[in-house]
Amino acid sequence: MATFFTQKLLYWNDTDNDRPMPWKGEKDPYKIWLSEIILQQTRVEQGWSYYEKFIKAFPTVYDLAKAKEQKVFKLWEGLGYYNRCKNLLYTAKEIVQLHNGVFPSNYDALLKLKGVGPYTAAAIASFAFDLPYAVVDGNVFRVFARFYGIHTPTDCREGLAVFNEVAQKNLELRQPGLYNQALMDFGATVCKPLVPNCARCPLQSKCVAYSQGIVNQLPIKLKSIQRKKRQFDFFCFQYQKTWWVQKRGAGDIWQNLFQFYLVENTSMRPMTESYLKHILVQQLGMTKNHFDLGDMSAIQKSTSPVFRQTLTHQLLQARFVLVKLKQKPTLLNQGTWVTASTFKKLAFPKMINEFFLTQFKLWGHSE
Ligand code: ADE
Repeated sequence: MATFFTQKLLYWNDTDNDRPMPWKGEKDPYKIWLSEIILQQTRVEQGWSYYEKFIKAFPTVYDLAKAKEQKVFKLWEGLGYYNRCKNLLYTAKEIVQLHNGVFPSNYDALLKLKGVGPYTAAAIASFAFDLPYAVVDGNVFRVFARFYGIHTPTDCREGLAVFNEVAQKNLELRQPGLYNQALMDFGATVCKPLVPNCARCPLQSKCVAYSQGIVNQLPIKLKSIQRKKRQFDFFCFQYQKTWWVQKRGAGDIWQNLFQFYLVENTSMRPMTESYLKHILVQQLGMTKNHFDLGDMSAIQKSTSPVFRQTLTHQLLQARFVLVKLKQKPTLLNQGTWVTASTFKKLAFPKMINEFFLTQFKLWGHSE
């Protein structure tokens, strides 16, 4: 017998849930997997077009498995956290090579796939195969924390166990996929984070948080994340019609994305002639024959305003400095010189793409 919670949720889903999404009701595990990996990165509104682009470019797991990494990165551009994109390709290849192109139809085997955690495994298992696994994501934490008045923080082992248990207890065993999707939609459209629509909520009469007036205090998080601050100066070296760019390596953010010459500082240093010369002469071994910086006002004109980007654990600030070179220095040999028209084919961090759309144009260049 379904619980009060589940009965009301499914009734709401039948009568009041008109949230359209392209992956809704989808039974193809490949498409479900793709949508869930994208939705780990971004909200539904933004994820929608990424999903459609990916499905168009790679209609089946075979198409994705044989895709060039650079093409997949380009489609992923803007979503961030590029490890997920790497895992996407890796897993597609694994499905083709080890599973004959067929997604495993049980939870434990799904969980073994790279980039697939308990949440994604439960989503695929329930949506594609109607297996009885409850999904537990941010929406689910919020809905249950409020409905049951749970004060256990969501971001710890104990919290995960508590929320898993209530999600599983309320799971509609005959229609687990429908229940999971309804719960997510309910969290996204009614039991919303900031302005929940309690007046139209079918669960209101038994909602603990509502009865105690603490809807906006729940759920609780152990730690609001402390973000490390980093300062970047990107030196955009131009020689005739070409620009120096470099592919980033492993071990830090933005793996495999392209960038200009990067100097990281512990604080935002004033962009002075001496700082610039320090980089060009001491660090890169250039001489006066390589550059002409002009006076201080020329240096200021060649320095962009500060761009900002927030990652999960980092707060980035970056400036871009245009440096026209009269000769190619020998020390910049770990990168390549490309024309600006090549930029479109390379994947850059979001911040650098913003720079292209704004400051780079102001300087009279276009990608
Ligand atoms: N977020 C993650 N997966 C989702 C889904 N299937 N529907 C709506 N939001 C989601």
